[in-house]
Amino acid sequence: MVKTRVFRIDPLNPDEEILKQCCKEITGRSTTVVFPTETVYGLGAYVFDVHAIKKIFTIKERPIDNPLIIHISKFDHLYEVTGDAPNNFKDIAKKLWPGPITFILRKRKEVPHEISGGLPTVAVRMPAHPVPLRLIDCIGPLAAPSANISGRPSPTIPHHVYVDMFGRADIIIDAGETFLGVESTIVDLTTDPPKLLRPGSLPVEKLKEILGKDIVVPNFAKGLGESDIALAPGTRYRHYAPKTPIVVVESSDYRDLKEYTNSVVEVVRNYSTHRYVIVASRETAKEYEALELNTVVIGSRYNLYEIAKNLFKVLRDVDRMGVDIAIVEGFPEIGIGLAIMNRLRKASRFNIVKV
Ligand code: TXA
Ligand code: MG
Repeated sequence: MVKTRVFRIDPLNPDEEILKQCCKEITGRSTTVVFPTETVYGLGAYVFDVHAIKKIFTIKERPIDNPLIIHISKFDHLYEVTGDAPNNFKDIAKKLWPGPITFILRKRKEVPHEISGGLPTVAVRMPAHPVPLRLIDCIGPLAAPSANISGRPSPTIPHHVYVDMFGRADIIIDAGETFLGVESTIVDLTTDPPKLLRPGSLPVEKLKEILGKDIVVPNFAKGLGESDIALAPGTRYRHYAPKTPIVVVESSDYRDLKEYTNSVVEVVRNYSTHRYVIVASRETAKEYEALELNTVVIGSRYNLYEIAKNLFKVLRDVDRMGVDIAIVEGFPEIGIGLAIMNRLRKASRFNIVKV
């Protein structure tokens, strides 16, 4: 068991003295640090500290061929970790960074192969959160996966960070809840056309607009089926899975909510011998509650950012409810909705009912 030190910090106005102290304790000491980002909490170590990087895999119980995202705070860092980037890369990145978008680029050979899982590429992003930006300014680029034990939902609130990381990571920086709640969008720019490897907080529609070209969206990026291609190693692993079995009730059209809720109720009836909970939007929950069905609200159907922000919290809550099954509503795959559906489908291990 590691003696974890905790630093509490204001996310929007971080105390310089605390940041300085964290920086001092991390630099040159093979320290692992849990820090907030705008998406989810990350478990980081300095990119060129192989010993600390290896600790990340042990702490997370992460397969060693599942590569890490490198977090940077300025463009100078980019050249420390990547080889040749596409010509117009800086112009594109300037429009989206800092922000929840990770680019796959050619790796510089100096970057430890432990970070890239042996691939010739690296994943890089500049997070839109004052705490990691200041920390990275001081320490240098940090390689960091999400700060959960492998297979569990990513932590978005300090409580979940403590549950997974206390006694494992050297330092935890507690800066309250993260802003967005689902991880960054990952796009591979080493192929033409670019390929979406993971939908995330930055909508793919926005990405297409900025890149000025089409993006390939493979089935595994929608959360439909596993990928076996070497370029998306992370997609092979079980992700976002609560212990409770989940069934996702999907419709191709959620406009007629009355019809949709009737279909969900039918699914619930099929599980009548089970202890169940329905995970529903605020709008539809009313219908289920009127029927005295056990329901938990995830957010408003008309604000998918609220659903995204609560998603991993609700998935963890479901495990504490003592139910045999969670019947989860689906949402339109528009904007951040694609990321929500990707995470839900994976959490259900593709147990999907189409209505
Ligand atoms: O929002 C986020 O992206 C959060 C915060 C902490 O930044 N990080 C995060 O990291 O979600 P992680 O490790 O949970 O997911 C990283 C994903 C993995 O699925 C991994 O396979 C993929 O990035 N990845 C990393 N390097 C890659 C590479 N060179 N090629 C393809 N995929 C890569
Ligand atoms: Mg993760």
